[in-house]
Amino acid sequence: WKTHYEVDRVLYTHQLTTCLQEIVNQTPQAKILVMKGINIDSGNMYDMAPTFEDDEDSSLTSLVDSTTLFPILAECRVIKSPAELQLLEHVTQVTSMAHTYVMRNIQPGMWEFQAESLFRHYTYYNFGSRLQSYTSICGCGPNTAILHYGHAGEPNSRQLQADDNCLFDMGAEYQCYASDITCSFPANGKFSTKYQPIYLAVLNAQIAVYNMARPGVSWVDCHKAAETVILQSLATLGIIDLQDKTVQELVELRLGAVFMPHGLGHFIGIDTHDVGGYLPGHPERIAQPGLQRLRTARILQPNMVLTVEPGCYFIDHLMDEAMKNPVYAPHLRVDKLEEYRGYGGVRLEDVVWITPQGDCVNFTQCPRTISEVEHVMAGGHWPP
Ligand code: GLY
Ligand code: MN
Ligand code: MN
Repeated sequence: WKTHYEVDRVLYTHQLTTCLQEIVNQTPQAKILVMKGINIDSGNMYDMAPTFEDDEDSSLTSLVDSTTLFPILAECRVIKSPAELQLLEHVTQVTSMAHTYVMRNIQPGMWEFQAESLFRHYTYYNFGSRLQSYTSICGCGPNTAILHYGHAGEPNSRQLQADDNCLFDMGAEYQCYASDITCSFPANGKFSTKYQPIYLAVLNAQIAVYNMARPGVSWVDCHKAAETVILQSLATLGIIDLQDKTVQELVELRLGAVFMPHGLGHFIGIDTHDVGGYLPGHPERIAQPGLQRLRTARILQPNMVLTVEPGCYFIDHLMDEAMKNPVYAPHLRVDKLEEYRGYGGVRLEDVVWITPQGDCVNFTQCPRTISEVEHVMAGGHWPP
């Protein structure tokens, strides 16, 4: 373990106090740096500070510094090393292949949990990827609008119907590094005229982000660019009505959050939702609909790795609230919107690397265009 993890010493916990006392005695102005800080997702305090049982005169306890380490380690995790980039590329490739395998083998009549099972088997059997980054979200039909589907209370238990659409959000883990990919597609392998424009709105939102994501660009602006494409597409479809406003003005009114109530994406690494999104010295969380859900508002920097996961969902209570909201109501074509009630949603999620050269490199290799998805679902090769 010492070699594997490149640490100086490995001790049993009962040896800690004696060992530290020896080090401290030989080190003037010694400090003991311990991890303590707020988890920005849960709001809980992360506090693993050790207690020194034999520290009778409190000499060790008085040297404890619990403020310095947390932001430094979090920042180290935001910027990935070459080895971390390799691992993230690998686990994302494994995850891409597994999604493609599921897509090729899914058919109406199967159960959502069978998609989860196929994914887990493929990643473990072929790549030794024993664990998953998170519990698989394998929704079909109306379940595709449930953002946190697939947990014990909603256990991937619907049978796929022929005209259902699927939203499968699954990620393998390898050597403690996570991937996180979402594919959306029709259960029967053929895009309907109702599904296709919503799917393309989300795909084009992703592409808009790839065209702008590079060092120096604000992640908040990337989120708004995705919303702009989705709202423009919904306007073209006649689901929303611009009236006297531009799409950008509707974005600033936060209408996009009615259809995409989550953030564009998040850092990924040792955790699926990795740390460092709101460290001191970086932009703070924005208290506005949708933007408040962003897991970071940071300016992109070289060697960050993030997910890009725009979505467009028809969620009953958000639609109902928007229809009652005097700011949003004039921009909703209720008759058209009602056609999509219960229809679910679409999300596409990739893992990307912001390079020092100024590119946004997509580690994900899943079928994405309409023809790619239909080709794979008809049993075609991938990559073609
Ligand atoms: N699967 C969790 C997420 O997409 O953030
Ligand atoms: Mn994600
Ligand atoms: Mn995901």
